[in-house]
Amino acid sequence: MKLGFIGVGNMGKAILEGLLRSGKVSCADIFVRNSSDKSTKNIAEETGAVFCGDLEEVAKKSDIVFLGVKPYLVATVLEKVADNLKNKIVISMAAAVEIKDLEKELPETKIVRIMPNTPVKVGDGVIGVTFNSLVDDSEKLLVLDLLNNLGIAEEILEKDMAALTALSGSGPAYVYLFIEALADGAVLNGLKRDVAYRLAANTVLGAANMILETKEHPGKLKDDVCSPSGSTIEAVRVLEEKNFRSAVIECEKACFDKLDRMR
Ligand SMILES: NC(=O)c1ccc[n+]([C@@H]2O[C@H](COP(=O)([O-])OP(=O)(O)OC[C@H]3O[C@@H](n4cnc5c(N)ncnc54)[C@H](OP(=O)(O)O)[C@@H]3O)[C@@H](O)[C@H]2O)c1
Repeated sequence: MKLGFIGVGNMGKAILEGLLRSGKVSCADIFVRNSSDKSTKNIAEETGAVFCGDLEEVAKKSDIVFLGVKPYLVATVLEKVADNLKNKIVISMAAAVEIKDLEKELPETKIVRIMPNTPVKVGDGVIGVTFNSLVDDSEKLLVLDLLNNLGIAEEILEKDMAALTALSGSGPAYVYLFIEALADGAVLNGLKRDVAYRLAANTVLGAANMILETKEHPGKLKDDVCSPSGSTIEAVRVLEEKNFRSAVIECEKACFDKLDRMR
Protein backbone atom coordinates (compact mmCIF):
# COMPACT_ATOMS: atom_id res chain seq x y z
CA MET A 1 0.00 0.00 0.00
CA LYS A 2 1.43 3.37 -1.08
CA LEU A 3 0.77 6.37 1.15
CA GLY A 4 0.94 10.03 0.16
CA PHE A 5 1.26 13.05 2.44
CA ILE A 6 0.28 16.49 1.18
CA GLY A 7 1.26 18.93 3.95
CA VAL A 8 3.69 17.39 6.41
CA GLY A 9 3.82 19.88 9.29
CA ASN A 10 3.28 19.20 12.99
CA MET A 11 0.32 16.84 12.55
CA GLY A 12 1.16 15.27 9.19
CA LYS A 13 4.69 14.52 10.37
CA ALA A 14 3.44 13.06 13.67
CA ILE A 15 1.24 10.64 11.68
CA LEU A 16 4.04 9.80 9.25
CA GLU A 17 6.49 9.16 12.09
CA GLY A 18 3.92 7.14 14.01
CA LEU A 19 3.31 4.88 11.01
CA LEU A 20 7.03 4.37 10.47
CA ARG A 21 7.50 3.66 14.19
CA SER A 22 4.78 0.98 14.03
CA GLY A 23 6.91 -0.92 11.51
CA LYS A 24 3.82 -1.62 9.36
CA VAL A 25 4.78 0.84 6.64
CA SER A 26 8.10 1.28 4.86
CA CYS A 27 9.48 4.75 4.14
CA ALA A 28 9.99 3.72 0.49
CA ASP A 29 6.18 3.51 0.18
CA ILE A 30 5.52 7.00 1.51
CA PHE A 31 5.43 10.02 -0.84
CA VAL A 32 5.60 13.54 0.57
CA ARG A 33 5.07 17.10 -0.56
CA ASN A 34 5.05 20.38 1.36
CA SER A 35 4.66 23.88 -0.07
CA SER A 36 8.34 24.34 -0.93
CA ASP A 37 11.09 22.08 -2.31
CA LYS A 38 13.23 22.96 0.72
CA SER A 39 10.78 21.85 3.41
CA THR A 40 9.78 18.77 1.36
CA LYS A 41 13.46 17.83 1.09
CA ASN A 42 13.90 18.28 4.86
CA ILE A 43 10.98 15.96 5.59
CA ALA A 44 12.22 13.38 3.08
CA GLU A 45 15.72 13.45 4.62
CA GLU A 46 14.44 13.29 8.20
CA THR A 47 12.01 10.43 7.65
CA GLY A 48 13.37 8.56 4.63
CA ALA A 49 10.09 9.15 2.75
CA VAL A 50 10.18 9.80 -1.00
CA PHE A 51 10.51 13.44 -2.14
CA CYS A 52 7.90 14.49 -4.71
CA GLY A 53 8.36 17.50 -6.99
CA ASP A 54 4.68 18.46 -6.93
CA LEU A 55 1.25 17.56 -5.56
CA GLU A 56 0.26 15.62 -8.69
CA GLU A 57 3.20 13.25 -8.23
CA VAL A 58 2.06 12.43 -4.67
CA ALA A 59 -1.52 11.85 -5.83
CA LYS A 60 -0.51 9.66 -8.79
CA LYS A 61 1.89 7.45 -6.82
CA SER A 62 -0.33 6.86 -3.76
CA ASP A 63 -3.33 4.64 -2.97
CA ILE A 64 -4.20 6.61 0.16
CA VAL A 65 -3.41 10.31 0.51
CA PHE A 66 -3.25 12.14 3.85
CA LEU A 67 -4.10 15.82 3.62
CA GLY A 68 -2.31 17.79 6.34
CA VAL A 69 -2.51 21.44 5.25
CA LYS A 70 -4.19 24.17 7.33
CA PRO A 71 -7.99 24.25 6.96
CA TYR A 72 -8.02 27.50 4.95
CA LEU A 73 -5.72 25.92 2.32
CA VAL A 74 -7.69 22.71 1.81
CA ALA A 75 -9.84 23.90 -1.13
CA THR A 76 -6.91 25.55 -2.97
CA VAL A 77 -4.71 22.48 -2.62
CA LEU A 78 -7.42 19.98 -3.59
CA GLU A 79 -8.37 22.00 -6.67
CA LYS A 80 -4.89 21.32 -8.05
CA VAL A 81 -5.00 17.54 -7.59
CA ALA A 82 -8.67 16.55 -7.67
CA ASP A 83 -8.39 14.76 -11.05
CA ASN A 84 -5.55 12.56 -9.81
CA LEU A 85 -7.41 11.57 -6.64
CA LYS A 86 -10.45 9.93 -8.22
CA ASN A 87 -10.86 6.34 -6.96
CA LYS A 88 -8.22 6.90 -4.27
CA ILE A 89 -8.82 7.25 -0.57
CA VAL A 90 -8.20 10.77 0.74
CA ILE A 91 -7.81 11.21 4.50
CA SER A 92 -8.26 14.81 5.64
CA MET A 93 -7.12 15.85 9.10
CA ALA A 94 -8.21 19.51 8.73
CA ALA A 95 -10.14 20.75 11.75
CA ALA A 96 -13.70 21.94 11.03
CA VAL A 97 -13.54 21.04 7.30
CA GLU A 98 -16.60 18.86 6.77
CA ILE A 99 -17.05 15.94 4.40
CA LYS A 100 -19.53 17.95 2.34
CA ASP A 101 -16.85 20.67 1.84
CA LEU A 102 -14.32 18.05 0.79
CA GLU A 103 -16.82 16.42 -1.58
CA LYS A 104 -17.27 19.75 -3.38
CA GLU A 105 -13.57 19.64 -4.33
CA LEU A 106 -13.40 15.87 -4.69
CA PRO A 107 -16.48 14.43 -6.34
CA GLU A 108 -16.26 10.64 -6.95
CA THR A 109 -13.54 10.30 -4.32
CA LYS A 110 -13.54 8.12 -1.23
CA ILE A 111 -13.13 10.57 1.64
CA VAL A 112 -12.17 9.97 5.24
CA ARG A 113 -12.25 12.80 7.76
CA ILE A 114 -10.09 12.25 10.83
CA MET A 115 -9.25 14.18 13.94
CA PRO A 116 -5.93 12.91 15.30
CA ASN A 117 -3.83 14.24 18.15
CA THR A 118 -0.06 14.65 18.36
CA PRO A 119 0.60 11.53 20.54
CA VAL A 120 0.08 9.51 17.32
CA LYS A 121 3.81 10.14 16.94
CA VAL A 122 4.52 7.70 19.78
CA GLY A 123 1.69 5.27 19.01
CA ASP A 124 -0.60 6.61 21.77
CA GLY A 125 -2.88 8.85 19.76
CA VAL A 126 -6.65 9.17 19.76
CA ILE A 127 -8.17 9.47 16.30
CA GLY A 128 -11.81 10.20 15.49
CA VAL A 129 -12.77 8.85 12.08
CA THR A 130 -15.73 9.39 9.78
CA PHE A 131 -16.27 8.24 6.18
CA ASN A 132 -18.21 9.45 3.15
CA SER A 133 -20.71 7.15 1.45
CA LEU A 134 -18.26 6.00 -1.25
CA VAL A 135 -16.02 4.19 1.23
CA ASP A 136 -17.10 0.54 1.43
CA ASP A 137 -16.81 -1.72 4.48
CA SER A 138 -13.54 -3.36 3.42
CA GLU A 139 -11.97 0.07 2.79
CA LYS A 140 -13.21 1.25 6.19
CA LEU A 141 -11.48 -1.72 7.80
CA LEU A 142 -8.31 -1.01 5.85
CA VAL A 143 -8.24 2.62 7.02
CA LEU A 144 -9.10 1.76 10.64
CA ASP A 145 -6.38 -0.92 10.66
CA LEU A 146 -3.86 1.59 9.34
CA LEU A 147 -4.87 4.26 11.88
CA ASN A 148 -4.94 1.81 14.79
CA ASN A 149 -1.16 1.57 14.36
CA LEU A 150 -1.09 5.12 15.73
CA GLY A 151 -3.12 4.48 18.90
CA ILE A 152 -6.89 4.21 19.09
CA ALA A 153 -8.98 4.97 16.01
CA GLU A 154 -12.68 5.31 16.72
CA GLU A 155 -15.39 5.69 14.08
CA ILE A 156 -17.79 8.43 15.16
CA LEU A 157 -20.68 10.37 13.63
CA GLU A 158 -19.54 13.50 11.83
CA LYS A 159 -21.83 15.63 14.01
CA ASP A 160 -19.66 14.62 17.01
CA MET A 161 -16.36 15.62 15.39
CA ALA A 162 -16.22 19.05 17.07
CA ALA A 163 -16.84 17.56 20.53
CA LEU A 164 -14.09 14.99 19.89
CA THR A 165 -11.73 17.72 18.62
CA ALA A 166 -12.26 19.78 21.79
CA LEU A 167 -11.57 16.66 23.87
CA SER A 168 -8.79 14.64 22.26
CA GLY A 169 -7.61 16.76 19.30
CA SER A 170 -6.77 19.76 21.49
CA GLY A 171 -6.65 17.79 24.75
CA PRO A 172 -2.89 17.14 24.79
CA ALA A 173 -2.36 20.92 25.16
CA TYR A 174 -4.52 21.01 28.30
CA VAL A 175 -2.80 17.94 29.72
CA TYR A 176 0.67 19.41 29.05
CA LEU A 177 -0.38 22.55 30.95
CA PHE A 178 -1.51 20.36 33.85
CA ILE A 179 1.74 18.36 33.83
CA GLU A 180 3.79 21.56 33.73
CA ALA A 181 1.82 22.99 36.66
CA LEU A 182 2.08 19.71 38.57
CA ALA A 183 5.86 19.81 38.13
CA ASP A 184 6.04 23.51 39.10
CA GLY A 185 4.27 22.67 42.34
CA ALA A 186 6.80 19.93 43.01
CA VAL A 187 9.69 22.31 42.30
CA LEU A 188 8.11 24.81 44.71
CA ASN A 189 8.12 22.01 47.27
CA GLY A 190 11.83 21.34 46.62
CA LEU A 191 12.03 18.63 43.93
CA LYS A 192 14.57 18.92 41.10
CA ARG A 193 13.04 20.10 37.78
CA ASP A 194 13.88 17.03 35.66
CA VAL A 195 12.66 14.65 38.35
CA ALA A 196 9.48 16.71 38.74
CA TYR A 197 8.61 16.52 34.99
CA ARG A 198 9.32 12.78 34.84
CA LEU A 199 7.20 12.03 37.90
CA ALA A 200 4.39 14.39 36.85
CA ALA A 201 4.10 12.78 33.40
CA ASN A 202 4.15 9.27 34.89
CA THR A 203 1.51 10.25 37.45
CA VAL A 204 -0.85 11.30 34.65
CA LEU A 205 -0.01 8.14 32.68
CA GLY A 206 -0.59 5.88 35.70
CA ALA A 207 -3.89 7.55 36.64
CA ALA A 208 -5.13 7.26 33.03
CA ASN A 209 -4.16 3.57 32.91
CA MET A 210 -6.02 2.95 36.18
CA ILE A 211 -9.23 4.21 34.57
CA LEU A 212 -8.69 2.14 31.42
CA GLU A 213 -7.68 -1.07 33.18
CA THR A 214 -9.96 -1.09 36.24
CA LYS A 215 -12.89 0.52 34.37
CA GLU A 216 -13.74 2.23 37.67
CA HIS A 217 -15.42 5.63 37.70
CA PRO A 218 -12.81 8.43 38.04
CA GLY A 219 -14.71 9.72 41.10
CA LYS A 220 -14.31 6.35 42.85
CA LEU A 221 -10.58 6.28 42.05
CA LYS A 222 -10.25 9.85 43.40
CA ASP A 223 -12.07 8.81 46.58
CA ASP A 224 -9.58 5.95 47.01
CA VAL A 225 -6.69 8.48 47.17
CA CYS A 226 -8.41 10.74 49.71
CA SER A 227 -8.09 9.43 53.29
CA PRO A 228 -10.36 11.02 55.91
CA SER A 229 -8.77 14.24 57.27
CA GLY A 230 -5.75 13.51 55.05
CA SER A 231 -3.50 15.73 52.97
CA THR A 232 -5.00 14.74 49.57
CA ILE A 233 -8.51 15.89 50.46
CA GLU A 234 -6.94 19.23 51.53
CA ALA A 235 -5.43 19.48 48.05
CA VAL A 236 -8.73 18.51 46.39
CA ARG A 237 -10.52 21.19 48.46
CA VAL A 238 -8.22 23.82 46.93
CA LEU A 239 -8.83 22.53 43.37
CA GLU A 240 -12.59 22.77 43.94
CA GLU A 241 -12.23 26.25 45.48
CA LYS A 242 -10.26 27.38 42.39
CA ASN A 243 -12.90 25.95 40.03
CA PHE A 244 -10.55 23.40 38.44
CA ARG A 245 -13.38 21.28 36.99
CA SER A 246 -15.26 24.29 35.70
CA ALA A 247 -12.08 25.65 34.05
CA VAL A 248 -11.63 22.37 32.15
CA ILE A 249 -15.28 22.15 31.09
CA GLU A 250 -15.30 25.79 29.96
CA CYS A 251 -12.04 25.39 28.02
CA GLU A 252 -13.59 22.54 26.01
CA LYS A 253 -16.72 24.60 25.41
CA ALA A 254 -14.58 27.51 24.15
CA CYS A 255 -12.76 25.16 21.76
CA PHE A 256 -16.06 23.68 20.55
CA ASP A 257 -17.56 27.16 19.97
CA LYS A 258 -14.46 28.30 18.06
CA LEU A 259 -14.71 25.23 15.79
CA ASP A 260 -18.35 26.12 15.16
CA ARG A 261 -17.29 29.64 14.08
CA MET A 262 -14.61 28.16 11.77
CA ARG A 263 -17.14 26.07 9.80
N1 LIG B 1 -1.43 20.45 15.33
C1 LIG B 1 -2.33 19.63 15.84
O1 LIG B 1 -2.24 19.18 16.99
C2 LIG B 1 -3.50 19.17 15.00
C3 LIG B 1 -4.41 18.25 15.56
C4 LIG B 1 -5.46 17.79 14.75
C5 LIG B 1 -5.62 18.26 13.46
N2 LIG B 1 -4.74 19.17 12.97
C6 LIG B 1 -4.94 19.63 11.57
O2 LIG B 1 -3.79 19.28 10.84
C7 LIG B 1 -3.61 20.23 9.79
C8 LIG B 1 -2.17 20.72 9.81
O3 LIG B 1 -1.94 21.37 11.03
P1 LIG B 1 -0.44 21.54 11.55
O4 LIG B 1 -0.54 21.99 12.95
O5 LIG B 1 0.35 20.31 11.22
O6 LIG B 1 0.05 22.74 10.61
P2 LIG B 1 1.53 23.07 10.09
O7 LIG B 1 2.52 22.59 11.07
O8 LIG B 1 1.51 24.51 9.70
O9 LIG B 1 1.66 22.18 8.76
C9 LIG B 1 1.03 22.49 7.56
C10 LIG B 1 1.86 21.92 6.43
O10 LIG B 1 1.19 22.20 5.20
C11 LIG B 1 2.19 22.47 4.24
N3 LIG B 1 1.63 23.23 3.12
C12 LIG B 1 1.21 24.52 3.08
N4 LIG B 1 0.79 24.85 1.85
C13 LIG B 1 0.93 23.73 1.08
C14 LIG B 1 0.70 23.44 -0.28
N5 LIG B 1 0.20 24.36 -1.12
N6 LIG B 1 0.99 22.19 -0.72
C15 LIG B 1 1.52 21.25 0.11
N7 LIG B 1 1.77 21.47 1.41
C16 LIG B 1 1.49 22.70 1.90
C17 LIG B 1 3.24 23.27 4.98
O11 LIG B 1 4.46 23.17 4.28
P3 LIG B 1 5.62 24.30 4.42
O12 LIG B 1 6.23 24.05 5.76
O13 LIG B 1 6.50 24.02 3.27
O14 LIG B 1 4.91 25.64 4.33
C18 LIG B 1 3.25 22.55 6.34
O15 LIG B 1 4.20 21.51 6.34
C19 LIG B 1 -4.61 21.36 10.00
O16 LIG B 1 -5.65 21.26 9.07
C20 LIG B 1 -5.10 21.15 11.41
O17 LIG B 1 -6.47 21.51 11.55
C21 LIG B 1 -3.68 19.62 13.69
